[in-house]
Amino acid sequence: MFGKKKTIPTIDKDQLELIEAAQKRIKQKKRLYTHFVTLLIGSVFLIITNTVLGIGKEFNPFGVNWFVYAIFIWLFIFIFHFFNVFVNHKFMGKDWEKKQLDKLVLKQQEQLEKLKLGLLNNEHAVTETKVNKDQKTDKKPKIKKTELTIIVAAAENDAIGLGNKLIWHLSDDLKRFKNLTNGHHIIMGRKTFESFPKPLPNRTHIVITRQKNYIVPEGVVVVNNLHDAIDAAKNDSQPFIIGGGEIYKQAITFADKIELTRVHHHFEADTFFPEIDATLWKEISNTFHKKDANHDYEFSFLTYIKNT
Ligand SMILES: NC(=O)c1ccc[n+]([C@@H]2O[C@H](COP(=O)([O-])OP(=O)(O)OC[C@H]3O[C@@H](n4cnc5c(N)ncnc54)[C@H](OP(=O)(O)O)[C@@H]3O)[C@@H](O)[C@H]2O)c1
Repeated sequence: MFGKKKTIPTIDKDQLELIEAAQKRIKQKKRLYTHFVTLLIGSVFLIITNTVLGIGKEFNPFGVNWFVYAIFIWLFIFIFHFFNVFVNHKFMGKDWEKKQLDKLVLKQQEQLEKLKLGLLNNEHAVTETKVNKDQKTDKKPKIKKTELTIIVAAAENDAIGLGNKLIWHLSDDLKRFKNLTNGHHIIMGRKTFESFPKPLPNRTHIVITRQKNYIVPEGVVVVNNLHDAIDAAKNDSQPFIIGGGEIYKQAITFADKIELTRVHHHFEADTFFPEIDATLWKEISNTFHKKDANHDYEFSFLTYIKNT
C-alpha cells in the first residue's frame, strides 16, 4: 500500500528448462575434459610403469608392449564418451526443438489471425462509412453493419467456469441469454460447445476448434479460427460470442457490445472473463436483481458498448 511495490522476478518454464539443460551440459563437458586429462596422465604413467619400472616387460602379446593395448582400449572408451556427449546427447534434444518450433508456428498463426481480424474490422468500418454515405445520398445501403456482442455471466472475481461447467444456476440469467440470442448465430469455443448436452434450439452454432476433422451434429458450423467464425456470421445483424474464457479473451478486442450478468459473489474457478477496460467500454444500462427463492445470489444485468 505504501512505498514502492516489490516486483517479484518471474522466469518462464522454457527459460528454466534452458538454464537447467545448460547447467547439465556444462557438467557433461567438464567430465569429458577430466576424462581427457586423466587419459593423458594415465598413458604417461603406463609407459613409465613398463619402460622405466620394468613392470610386465616380458608381456608383449604379438610383439607389442602391453601398455600400447591398454592405452588403445582407454582411448576407445574416451572416444565413446566423446561420441556420447557430442552426438548422442545434443544440447536440448529433438523433442525440445520440435516443441519450440510448434510454439513458433502457433504464435505466427495467432499473429496472422489478429491481422486478418484487423482487416475484417477495417472492412466493417469501410462498410459503415459506405452505409452512411449511401444514406446521405438517399441510395439504399448495400450491407448492414453487424453488432458483434459478447454475452457472459461473470462473478465479482471474473470467474465464469469450473471443470468445464457453469458455477451457478440463475434462471433469470438463462432466460435473458435465451431471449437475447434467440434466432442469432452463437460463436463458441470447442470446450463450451462440449459442455452443452445438445445444441440449443433456434440458434446457429459456430464452433471454433483447431482440430481439422471435428465431428458435430448436423447444422452446427465448425471453423478453425475466430476470423472465420465472425465471417460465417456476417449476415447476422447481431452475432453473439458466448464463450468460454479462451474465446472471450480473443474476441473482446473485436466486439462492439458486452451483455454481462455480474454475479455479486466470489467463486473458485478455473476459467475467467478478461477485465473490462473502463477506458474502452461505456456502461449504458444496469439492472439489479435481488436474491430470492430461485436465485441464490444477487446479480446485475449490465450492458456495455465500445467507446468510439
Ligand atoms: N459464465 C459464462 O457466461 C460462460 C459462458 C461460456 C462458457 N463458460 C465456461 O467456460 C469454460 C470453457 O472455457 P475455456 O476457456 O476452457 O474453453 P473455450 O473457450 O470454450 O474453448 C477452448 C477451445 O476453443 C478452441 N480455440 C480457442 N482459440 C482458438 C483459435 N484461435 N483457433 C482455433 N481454435 C481455438 C480450442 O479447441 P481445440 O482444443 O478443439 O482446438 C480450445 O481448446 C467452461 O467452464 C464453461 O462452463 C462460462
